[in-house]
Amino acid sequence: MADYKLKIRRHLPETGDAPYWAEYPVDLEGHRSVLDGILQARDRIDGSIGIRCSCQAAICGSCGVRVNGQARLACNTKLSEAAAKAKDGAIVVEPMGNMPILKDLIVNMDAVHWKKVQRIVPWLLPAGDPPEREYVVPAESMIDITQSMACIHCGACVSDCLSMEVDPLFIGPAALAKAYRFVGDPRDSQDEERLRDLAEDPHGIYDCTHCFSCVEVCPKGVAPMDQIMRLRRRATRDFEINDQNNGRRHEHAFTSIIRKKGILDERKLLQDSFGPFRPQGQAELIRSLPTGLRGFARGKITPKTALFHHKLPGVENVQRIYDHAEQHHEELNLYIVGEGGDTDEKEPAMAETPREGS
Ligand code: SF4
Ligand code: SF4
Ligand code: FES
Repeated sequence: MADYKLKIRRHLPETGDAPYWAEYPVDLEGHRSVLDGILQARDRIDGSIGIRCSCQAAICGSCGVRVNGQARLACNTKLSEAAAKAKDGAIVVEPMGNMPILKDLIVNMDAVHWKKVQRIVPWLLPAGDPPEREYVVPAESMIDITQSMACIHCGACVSDCLSMEVDPLFIGPAALAKAYRFVGDPRDSQDEERLRDLAEDPHGIYDCTHCFSCVEVCPKGVAPMDQIMRLRRRATRDFEINDQNNGRRHEHAFTSIIRKKGILDERKLLQDSFGPFRPQGQAELIRSLPTGLRGFARGKITPKTALFHHKLPGVENVQRIYDHAEQHHEELNLYIVGEGGDTDEKEPAMAETPREGS
C-alpha cells in the first residue's frame, strides 16, 4: 500500500494543451525525499513525468520545484514533512515560478536565472597584471562573502520573489547575491562601477521590496535580501550613489524622520525623499500627488496630520538606539557565527566583518 500521494502539475507547453493535475501513489518511507517519490512514480507509473535532477544531495541545485506552494529542492524535502503540510492529503508538486515551463516540473533556467546572472558580470575584474601565481588574500577578508558564495543556483529565490512577479526585469535575488560576491571580494577592482550600475538600473538593487521570501526559501542560507541590503549600504555609504529610483534619498529621509520623531511622518517622507528643491524632485512630487490624495481619501493623511505631526513619547530612546548602532558599526556575519553569534563563544577575529573596505 502506498504511503504517500503526490499531486503533480503536468504540462507540455509545445503541444498547446492546457496543464492538468495528476495523482501518483508513492510507496516509500517518510524519511525519503519528494524527489525519490517523483522518481518512483516515473519508474513505476508514467515514464513521461519531466523532472530535472542530478546529485540527489542538495548540492547541484537542479531539482528545484514548488512543494505545497513553496520553492524547495525536491531532494532535500522529506516526504513526511511535505505530507504534514499537505492540505488534502496529497503533496502538491509544481514547477518553480517566474520562469517559463519547458515540461512538467522542468523550467527554463536560461531564460531568466542565468540571463540575470550574466547581467551582473559574474567574474572577478582585478586591476593590473595578474600575479605570476595565484592571487593571495587573507582568509578574514573573504568572510564577508562566504554567504553569497554558498549559492548553488537552484533558482528557488527567483521562483518565489514577489518583485520579480511584478517586474520580470528585476535583476532578482540570486543574481544580486552573486553581485555581492564580487563587490565584497578584495581582489575585484570595479566595486564602484558595479554598484553604480546596479543602483542606477531601475530594475536593480532598489527594486527589492524586502518581502523576505528569498530568505525563507533559500536552501543554503544565502539570504539574498541581506546581500542586496549590503550592496545598498556599500553604494550609499562608500560611494554616495544617488539612484534614479530615488532609493538612497528615500532611505535617508525615512531613517532621519524616525530618528527625529520616533514615528513615520508620511507627509514629510514624500517631501524629503524627492527633495522639493531639485527640479527633478518637483516633477516627481507632482507625479506623486495622486498617491497623496489617495492617502487623504483613505484617512491615512488628515488635514491635522498634514499640518502638524507629533513626536513619539520617549523618542529619546529611539535616538539612543541610533547612537548605539552608529557607535557599533561592525556587521556580524551570522552565516559564520550563527544566530547566537554575538555570545562569548564567537571567535572575534572571524566573526566581525569590518564595514570599511573590501
Ligand atoms: S526580499 Fe527582495 S529579492 Fe528577496 S524575494 Fe523579496 S523582493 Fe525578491
Ligand atoms: S540564493 Fe539560495 S535560493 Fe537563490 S539560487 Fe542561490 S541557493 Fe538557490
Ligand atoms: S538533485 Fe542536486 S540539488 Fe537536488
